[in-house]
Amino acid sequence: MTTTDGRTLVESPDNGTVVVTGRLPQPALEALRAAHQVDPWDSEELIPREELLRRVRGARALVTLVTERVDTALLDAAGPQLRVVANVAVGHDNVDVPACRERGVMVTNTPGVLTDATADLAMALVLMASRRLGEGERLVRSGQPWRWSMSLLLGRGLQGRTLGVVGLGEIGRATARRARAFGMRITYSSRSPADPGVVEDLGARRLPLEELLATADVVSLHCPLTPETRHLVGAEQLALMRSTAYLVNTARGPVVDEEALVDALRAGSIAGAGLDVYEDEPRVHPGLLELDTVVLLPHLGSATEETRCAMAERAATNVLAVLSGGQPPNPVA
Ligand code: DGY
Repeated sequence: MTTTDGRTLVESPDNGTVVVTGRLPQPALEALRAAHQVDPWDSEELIPREELLRRVRGARALVTLVTERVDTALLDAAGPQLRVVANVAVGHDNVDVPACRERGVMVTNTPGVLTDATADLAMALVLMASRRLGEGERLVRSGQPWRWSMSLLLGRGLQGRTLGVVGLGEIGRATARRARAFGMRITYSSRSPADPGVVEDLGARRLPLEELLATADVVSLHCPLTPETRHLVGAEQLALMRSTAYLVNTARGPVVDEEALVDALRAGSIAGAGLDVYEDEPRVHPGLLELDTVVLLPHLGSATEETRCAMAERAATNVLAVLSGGQPPNPVA
């Protein structure tokens, strides 16, 4: 198999099963099948947990989607010959990485290939929230009479406003580049300062989170979900934001305390929000569903055909590398 960056992987056929927990694009599945016995869950429905626990028995590799929980119960059910868990996502909070490590199971993810798609979606949410596009669409679809007027669904422009990026990794940087094209200024907060070249390119200023929240017109979240970032944005942080500001989340739902967000939106202490991810996905807090000032999408960050193909191919490449005794290109640190 040749990877998108031109490397050729040596594949050693064996009888170990690769269990795939959801539907994958055909090329990735074929690449796996060329070297291994593959057991894919071929349905858009979630694989029932019992079924998954049964199927993983004896597997040497698991290709998992973000909807699957890879925990000790699953790892124990798989058994000691399991070598790799290849998550088809850049985020890997659904995988108990320390438990995998303890068992000598490699964990891989799919960075890079979904950066543009996710940054596009973050920018779309910035525009949807600040220009009230969801409200506009709902109005037209409702069949209610409407006409152009000086005051119909007035939003806020982006030119000259500040985007505060929380987590200036690949996706954060790609979102910031897009925002620059809309005339926005960039501030960021992250654990460590960004590369000077990146900072110069984006004209970005690093701020402590509290200051970023207090000064941004739009706050866009791009940090991974870890114990440290769970509820990073809660009541206290939302209270720091401007009443004219928007919060956009394309990272992971639990980074935001949804209850506190509903309260802030209800009180009008922030202007609106654009969400692609939820605290208890796919459940959406009922308070959010009632609010017109929030745009709600069903976790579409990486949902383009080419991105999903590339993600699956990455995962397959990682599996093939590990099962042929090599180093996978995308081990999770
Ligand atoms: C990721 O890769 O982490 C995305 O959320 C999956 O769409």
